[in-house]
Amino acid sequence: MNKRFFLKSLALTGFTFPAFENITAALHDKKHLPATQIAQDENFWEAIRKGYRIKPDYINLENGYYCFQPEEILEAFIKNVREVNYQGSYYMRTVQWDNKKKAAAALAKIAGCNSDEIIITRNTTESLDTIIGGLAWKEGDEAVMAEQDYGAMLDMFKQIARRHGVVNKIISVPNHPASDEEIVALYEAAITPKTKLLMVCHMINITGHILPVQKIADMAHKHGVKVLVEGAHAFAHIQYDIPSLHCDFYGASLHKWLSVPLGAGILYVNKNSIPDPWPLIADGDSKPLTDIYRLNHTGTHPVHTDLTILNAIDFYYKLGPERKEARLRYLQQYWTSKLRKVKNVAVNTPADVERSCGIANVGIIGIKPGLLAERLLKEYKIYTVAIDYANVHGCRITPNIYTTTAELDQLVKAITEMAKAV
Ligand SMILES: Cc1ncc(COP(=O)(O)O)c(C=O)c1O
Repeated sequence: MNKRFFLKSLALTGFTFPAFENITAALHDKKHLPATQIAQDENFWEAIRKGYRIKPDYINLENGYYCFQPEEILEAFIKNVREVNYQGSYYMRTVQWDNKKKAAAALAKIAGCNSDEIIITRNTTESLDTIIGGLAWKEGDEAVMAEQDYGAMLDMFKQIARRHGVVNKIISVPNHPASDEEIVALYEAAITPKTKLLMVCHMINITGHILPVQKIADMAHKHGVKVLVEGAHAFAHIQYDIPSLHCDFYGASLHKWLSVPLGAGILYVNKNSIPDPWPLIADGDSKPLTDIYRLNHTGTHPVHTDLTILNAIDFYYKLGPERKEARLRYLQQYWTSKLRKVKNVAVNTPADVERSCGIANVGIIGIKPGLLAERLLKEYKIYTVAIDYANVHGCRITPNIYTTTAELDQLVKAITEMAKAV
């Protein structure tokens, strides 16, 4: 069977992507409206919510770990699992790599980069650790990062410090900066002639703070320092082109804001930097140093997840990236604008609308974050996650597109009551 016939036969056996009727119907007479107007249309988002199977036990405001799939994507995933299982080794030996490349090309479109600069990994951790662990470090080289960065990456930097004698310079990002320049200056002050790599979060996961990564990258490049951007929470949440950020490397997870099934991420490497890192898993010598796929040896892995990336992208475009971003920003502003005024409450996310989107963090002076998260769940049936390190002491609040303003009213009520009683 040749490849074209094989792909055709997959389509005949039901290997097609379903239509997202609920979105189509909801958008029917609203497509022309500005995204910021649709962002406030509760009827529209109620229709989107119907596309999800929502657990009634609590209000889920912890989508930052994993944005579970709407039913359409889930059903497509189950179909993909069945089909790969049906085709067995034949699928694995024939089209798995072509299909993965098709998914990577579709992701390149969202990322605004060339398809030969992006690969599909298992997650952000794998993407970023490939770069951190793979660069040719020498004793005394330096790396710059922030204490608000994700633990797994900070651990990888600690490992290269032990292994290669690299010196890590760790800065702290303020929760309420006066300007982009204040943040750029903080990173710049940590750079020395020995600095080789600077890692920066696009969106800090514990606060939702969006950092001026392009300005930071431009500054770092003036010092000859390569820039790795940690985009776990930015990809398919806010809109941007990776190349316009001017970074050398970019990693993100797809099971977060793109709602791909668990176990998928991206690694972008600027064409000029592809020869730099050693791969995490050796790939033999057959590929030239300039081929990003030499960094993409995975061994056998869940290929049905790769296939479902296309379904998740269909869903993303059907809803519209602009509408999604506008709704997520609206939801965050909806509750933070109410709580910023309440006594004993600290919103640990910048108030400037451009410096955050869906995620924010809230604490109550006098209540430990762990206890706050426990009380939110027990007393108010609201599920969040406690953050209690660096300069962030509160619960991270992460709604998703199915979240209602009524649910956020419940959050505002809960925090207000608890803060009053302190
Ligand atoms: C900022 C940030 N980076 C990296 C990760 C790790 O993501 P993954 O487990 O998908 O690699 C997370 C997970 O929450 C995160 O918030």
